[in-house]
Amino acid sequence: MSTTTRAIFSPIQVGNNNLQHRVVLAPLTRLRATLDAVPTDLQAEYYKQRASEGGLMITEGTFIHRLAGHYELAPGIYTQEQIKGWKKITSAVHEKKAVIFLQLWHLGRSGHSKWNPNGERAVSASAVPLSGKNRYGDDHEVPRPLEIDEIKVIVEQYRQAALNAIEAGFDGVELHSANGYLLDQFINSGTNHRTDIYGGSAENRARFTLEAIDAIVQAIGPERTAIRLSPGEVFQDMHDDTEVETWSHITSELQKNHPQLAYLHFVQSRANIFGNDKQIVPLNTLQPYRQIWKGPFITASGFTTAVEAGLDLAESTGNLIAFGRAFIANPDLPERLRHGWELNPYNRSTFYTQGPVGYTDYPFYNAAKN
Ligand code: PHB
Repeated sequence: MSTTTRAIFSPIQVGNNNLQHRVVLAPLTRLRATLDAVPTDLQAEYYKQRASEGGLMITEGTFIHRLAGHYELAPGIYTQEQIKGWKKITSAVHEKKAVIFLQLWHLGRSGHSKWNPNGERAVSASAVPLSGKNRYGDDHEVPRPLEIDEIKVIVEQYRQAALNAIEAGFDGVELHSANGYLLDQFINSGTNHRTDIYGGSAENRARFTLEAIDAIVQAIGPERTAIRLSPGEVFQDMHDDTEVETWSHITSELQKNHPQLAYLHFVQSRANIFGNDKQIVPLNTLQPYRQIWKGPFITASGFTTAVEAGLDLAESTGNLIAFGRAFIANPDLPERLRHGWELNPYNRSTFYTQGPVGYTDYPFYNAAKN
């Protein structure tokens, strides 16, 4: 049955943009930039393929500074060359009348001194290391707790990165405050043992994130600012003792101080973000935040294996729905959902490889039929 009349295909205002539908490209690490973290023509092709008129796309996590972490072939937004590389992407996407936000990323303790220019140790809220090994097979190191002055420096780096994103032609930025990276390490009590104004109460643990939002809003305006949060996430050993209180506080502060933000983007936790398991729906753990936030709300939650549940959630909540794996494998995902066409299966083994295979070679539906 055609889904054209469903809520997921109704327009919505997001920041300064009139979206024509609510099928969102989720932020996805794909590792196709250069060794200097400069976006490539291949990335421009990938984003252009996934652009649709009035559709919202969020880029892969993008480093705000050379010391924000470094995954080989992940992009940055802190050099002129990187800004130039991103310009090709924003122009290609805008030609197709799509809307694109850049995701601002700092790894915190998920980084490693081995990848920093002068062997600087990874930083975090507290000296609590991540268990297990990183993607290169190295043990995670014990991070160095940030000094208060250094927090202020990183807030400034977020602000500058947001300005760079606007220079590069983005419609806005999404602050990555989820999934166990730097800001989330401050939010969660399991990784934040500080006794200063950045630790202890939910209010204190949320402070860094909210200061970063204030700085970005001041630089580029609330309509071009957004944020991603993941209450109750367990990925990267995240744990918080006061889950609903913590994220209700953050959401209430955003509603009170920045009601004009473009959107709030929530990840509903699932057992294993790298798993292929079917989403158990509805978990409905995001309901408290939907009640607080009055503006556009994106839910991301493993909907590739529960597409109908995503469409139903859009219907019952008016939310935008972010798709990751399904959008990797289906450049024309919004069209496929609109017409109820079958989806290409995704191939996890090429998510993080190099070159076009598994990146820009997934067929469009019509091409597949011709
Ligand atoms: C990853 O690259 O593995 C990754 C990046 C950002 C996330 C989650 C996972 O939010």
